[in-house]
Amino acid sequence: MDTSTKYLGLDLKSPIIAGSCGLTADVDKMVEMEQAGAGAIIVKSVFEEQIIYDIKKNTHVVAPTDNYGDSYEYIAAHVADDSLNKHFQMIREAKKRLTIPVIGSINCFSYENWLTYAIKFQEAGCDALELNMAILPYEISLSADDVERTFTQIINTLRKSISIPISIKVGTYFTDMAKQMQQLSWMGIQGITMFNKSVQVDVDIENMTLTNASFLSNPDELHNTLRWVAILSKKMRCDLSASTGVYKSDDVVKLLLAGANTVQVVSCLYKNGIGTLRELNEGLKGWMERKGFENINQFRGKLAVQPNDKASVALRTQFMKYFAEIV
Ligand SMILES: Cc1cc2nc3c(=O)[nH]c(=O)nc-3n(C[C@H](O)[C@H](O)[C@H](O)COP(=O)(O)O)c2cc1C
Repeated sequence: MDTSTKYLGLDLKSPIIAGSCGLTADVDKMVEMEQAGAGAIIVKSVFEEQIIYDIKKNTHVVAPTDNYGDSYEYIAAHVADDSLNKHFQMIREAKKRLTIPVIGSINCFSYENWLTYAIKFQEAGCDALELNMAILPYEISLSADDVERTFTQIINTLRKSISIPISIKVGTYFTDMAKQMQQLSWMGIQGITMFNKSVQVDVDIENMTLTNASFLSNPDELHNTLRWVAILSKKMRCDLSASTGVYKSDDVVKLLLAGANTVQVVSCLYKNGIGTLRELNEGLKGWMERKGFENINQFRGKLAVQPNDKASVALRTQFMKYFAEIV
């Protein structure tokens, strides 16, 4: 049974990828993931905020006033380099110890740093780079056009500056999801990951403070991913990686039938252990065997909305079938 596939132009033994998270910041765990059958690994993101935090933590002795401005800048740059270097050292070690592709990941908020960091990821030997661009349009002053412009600027700059494949990881906050995803896929990037899961907000009612809800997804969240993969996979000019809500091998099969090139898992590894990757791969192979498929291309996208079909018609038929049966 051949589960190999191409993703971002890279050869993968399996379409099941370990998504970016704390577990993929540890090379021993990455080795375990490869042994359990991960097709590739997306390393924990470098967040620009994390670098700034490191700078603040390590430069408290130097006041950033006019008098000390130069030395502060110097030390801040040094601390930033040091934090990043540790990350790139980890990537270099992962590249030495793994045979599967190692994909870097960044999340910045200042325009210049997207570029600075991206070049460093390429130099560290990453096989590709996933840009975590899950923008939450918090500010009332931010229009859909502003969000679109941010994507365009960053993608255009990085495409010209690095030669490794680029994928972007998006959230679900778009006013016109289908149109935006298709336009992004036309920008010369190699892939789009749908979707990042934003940290959810909660309230501690005793202390009356805002807190974070659980970081982990639940299996019901698969359905939203599935919907958009099915709608878009045949309408994009780049690969599509599905993320959020994948727990079982059946979920992997569903997303491949909907047209995903790869399927990412994170919460499932936290909840059920890295060994789950083995079960997911075995389950996928078992299903392929039962259905008489020898390779993934024989069934990938079988249930996707076809390039010339209207998603509204295809999905409305499903919806009406359901209501026709219950009325
Ligand atoms: C503990 C934790 C840490 C994460 N860290 C990152 C990260 O550094 N970069 C990133 O792009 N996504 C990060 N994610 C999001 C995951 O990559 C993934 O998109 C999300 O959890 C949904 O997939 P899942 O349902 O398989 O968990 C993190 C998720 C978790 C649970």
